Amino acid sequence: MSRPLTHDIELRVNGVRHRSSVESRRLLVHHLRETLGLTGTHVGCDSSNCGACTVLLDGVAVKSCTVFAVAADGADVLTVEGLATDGEMSPVQEGFRQCHGLQCGYCTPGMVVSATGLLLDNPEPTPAEIREGLEGNLCRCTGYQMIVESVRWAAEHGGPGPAAQAHAERATEAGLR
Ligand code: FES
Ligand code: FES
Repeated sequence: MSRPLTHDIELRVNGVRHRSSVESRRLLVHHLRETLGLTGTHVGCDSSNCGACTVLLDGVAVKSCTVFAVAADGADVLTVEGLATDGEMSPVQEGFRQCHGLQCGYCTPGMVVSATGLLLDNPEPTPAEIREGLEGNLCRCTGYQMIVESVRWAAEHGGPGPAAQAHAERATEAGLR
């Protein structure tokens, strides 16, 4: 049997460069979780529906179960582990804490990263715009109202936060967003 084709890739993840060899079929979410040990990015489905695997890829929120790791070669990735700055939660993370935007927490990393991406694009979203912006993220617990309030809280208390802002600025400077 022939060996699977592998590719050498380099990613910048949460500010740290990682070089790896990946199989062609390796998904970014599995690369992040299993190779790099960043298990904050969750897998909630195998059908691109739940959004639990959302990360920022060159400033854009993507479902990392829909991206091959090899396709992300050279990219700058921000996961939920990279949102805090100097040990302080980002405004979105703090908003979810303040407004009880989670229950079991399974969807929360994806929700927080998607909301961060939303606030990068739209710093003052209306409740309707928040619901539309997060429609790719499913939550089985909260009924969504507290999540909308969490994102509104974040919009009023610093928006996406410094780590996400810096990540987005790098992507803008590189002409990627
Ligand atoms: S695990 Fe990616 S959308 Fe559900
Ligand atoms: S808090 Fe449980 S799935 Fe969202």
